[in-house]
Amino acid sequence: ILNTTTPFTIAPEDSEREALKRAACPEGDDVLFPAGAWVRPPDLYRLALEELEAEIEAIRREWKSDEGFSPIEHIKTRVKEPDSILGKLSRLGLEPSADHAADFIYDIAGMRIVFPFVTDIYLLLERIGRHQGLRILQIKDYIMNPKSNGYRSLHVLLSVPVIFEERLCRVRVEVQMRTLAMDFWASLEHILLYKYDRRVPDHLERELSSAAGAAGELDRKMLTLRSEVMSLSEEDAL
Ligand code: GTP
Ligand code: MG
Repeated sequence: ILNTTTPFTIAPEDSEREALKRAACPEGDDVLFPAGAWVRPPDLYRLALEELEAEIEAIRREWKSDEGFSPIEHIKTRVKEPDSILGKLSRLGLEPSADHAADFIYDIAGMRIVFPFVTDIYLLLERIGRHQGLRILQIKDYIMNPKSNGYRSLHVLLSVPVIFEERLCRVRVEVQMRTLAMDFWASLEHILLYKYDRRVPDHLERELSSAAGAAGELDRKMLTLRSEVMSLSEEDAL
């Protein structure tokens, strides 16, 4: 498990870097993109998200027919806006260059997958690991190791193959996998304070963390209920 907070690079392949550079610096001059000049992230990221979503939908369909229910509640995707990329570079203390964006920002394409049950997160991770085309670049397991504020999710950085302008490209996509309970907590915590002010008073951080613990407890309870319901329906079948 790789957990890191300092600027850390998981460099893109050349094809991704080139597409990013072309979008950020259309004139070809490399270093600083003038403020406001870069309005749209490259199409490559939208494409990578569509490809990945299609792959995961395929896994979901197969899974559903075996188990009788869908292990995935919903999937959301977003491409990071240039403004938000520039903001993150500045938080990292880096010059706003296309190369820095390529080297240090690997959540330009982001996907969130929300599950009813926590065990299915690891089953999907395992399926992704066995997938022919997808490569796992990094795993941050905030479920086994929650953040100090209580944040829980499994973050997986993937390399997704796409055909872009008639070439095979590999694009990084950050996938966050969490349960409904974790998502509930994260959404409310985000509204309350994430990124406004990460430095929360200690007592508030403890309260938040204890609320996250309650969400974790709910996930465990639901797993137990699921196995009880499953064994009931097996008895019925006999
Ligand atoms: P960012 O600069 O926020 O992207 O952090 P990072 O690149 O160091 O990666 P990390 O894995 O810590 O978090 C990436 C993303 O996970 C964030 O952009 C959020 O979407 C989500 N996230 C991480 N920590 C928290 C948290 O404490 N609360 C909430 N609500 N979301 C979080
Ligand atoms: Mg991030």
